[in-house]
Amino acid sequence: MSIYLGIDIGTSGTKTIAIREGGEILAESSATYPLHHPKPMWSEQDPDDWWSAVVKTVRRVVKESKARPGEVKAIGLSGQMHGSVFLDKQDQVIRPALLWNDQRTAQECAEIEQRAGGRAKLIKMVANPALTGFTAPKILWLRNNEPRNFARLAKVLLPKDDVRRRLTGEYATEVSDASGMLLLDVAKRAWSKPLLSKLELDESLLGTVYESEEVTGTLTAEAAKLLGLTTDCVVVGGAGDCAANAVGNGVVKQGILASSLGTSGVMFVHSDEVAIDPEGRLHTFCHAVRGKWHMMGVTLCAAGTLEWFVQRLCADLRSGRGKQDPYSVLTAEALDTSPGSEGLFTLPYLAGERTPHADPNARGCFIGLTLRHTRGHLTRSIMEGVAYSLRDSLEIISDLGVPVRQIRAGGGGAKSALWRQIQADVFGKKVVTINAEQGPAYGVALLAATGAGAYKNIQEACAATIQVVHETAVDRKAAKIYNEAFPVYQGLYQSLKNDFQRISELSQ
Ligand code: XUL
Repeated sequence: MSIYLGIDIGTSGTKTIAIREGGEILAESSATYPLHHPKPMWSEQDPDDWWSAVVKTVRRVVKESKARPGEVKAIGLSGQMHGSVFLDKQDQVIRPALLWNDQRTAQECAEIEQRAGGRAKLIKMVANPALTGFTAPKILWLRNNEPRNFARLAKVLLPKDDVRRRLTGEYATEVSDASGMLLLDVAKRAWSKPLLSKLELDESLLGTVYESEEVTGTLTAEAAKLLGLTTDCVVVGGAGDCAANAVGNGVVKQGILASSLGTSGVMFVHSDEVAIDPEGRLHTFCHAVRGKWHMMGVTLCAAGTLEWFVQRLCADLRSGRGKQDPYSVLTAEALDTSPGSEGLFTLPYLAGERTPHADPNARGCFIGLTLRHTRGHLTRSIMEGVAYSLRDSLEIISDLGVPVRQIRAGGGGAKSALWRQIQADVFGKKVVTINAEQGPAYGVALLAATGAGAYKNIQEACAATIQVVHETAVDRKAAKIYNEAFPVYQGLYQSLKNDFQRISELSQ
């Protein structure tokens, strides 16, 4: 039997799955790790924690799937995008990695635009504006703020690519994740020499760029022994978690949109051509499909907002009183309230916001509270606020004329029937779900199978394994309520934007 592993190094944890040819999942395992916020709006993790989670989960799935070592033919890697693993010449991690939702680099974003000769020139070189979450501003932040650490810097790797280094000994990445470093010429699918030179960064800091299903190396003897595998096992490029999730949902052709509710929320459309939002509100990145691209909008704190609510404000539910799942309790309460949450709005900007505001100073809010409101209303309004935020991205995608025939809902949040219904009603379009629930891990397991030769290409792999299994239709009455509420939601940010700026100055 041939077995393929998909590993997704997420923000709250790592998930590893084993599939066999044909796509059947044989085993899966997850392990969590902490997220650190040493200052407001900073977000860091320890790359050693990712590696421990990878080792633990791979060993578990190998055992559970009863794979003989030689049967595991290929591994695909996915992971949170944009994070910066800073390594010295001896491959020692210099400091904790700055993550995709870290907001400390506003000054460096301005510096990048200025060095590039303006925003328009920057977008021409790398297809995107400088955003605080991207990797290049993080490298400049290290240079500007921790010069001693910068002097030691020999390589900058993305989270999944640091795991690849530990697996194969190779410094490599692939086009989809590399796009989010803001150093890739996205149209040409190669590092942008002109931008690197303007930023005075050496290309040797970066790994070799591959296509997503290409083989980037084989396991070292040490890694093979540690994981119970062989040195014949190849590691393919894989993909950043957004593109990996799209592949895992079969979004590998024009007209299908993946709406993903993980810690972040992502609206992702496939594009046969490089289409660029001239205003830079949507990201244009390479897709994990050879020679194709995608556009996406990102809500930084999507299911992350509900998770915050559960962890910080509903701790009594988590302590196991009555031993109920806190999410089920909150959902039952939310179901007792009506669409529109009786005038309560949530702005889910707890980590600042990317699309459409690109504002590191934006803050989370409940607006419209009255004495009548209950915890159920708060829960529903969080789900609604996140869906409004995704609709912001959907509207830009439609404005740019990118066709959307079908919306596929995925990510942890899409397991909730209520949240799927709210999405359908806020978007005014039915949403569907597919047979595979593993999103990014499944996508890169399919890329691994393709790289190992089980399929001609990733489109063939998706066609053979992924089917739509469920539809959530629009409730017209609720959709009307949300249509009327959406402009109010949009107006709230505009009214508060200057206050957010002042609040951020006060909390420095
Ligand atoms: C995408 C992004 C997030 C992370 C989360 O641009 O920043 O979706 O990849 O894992």
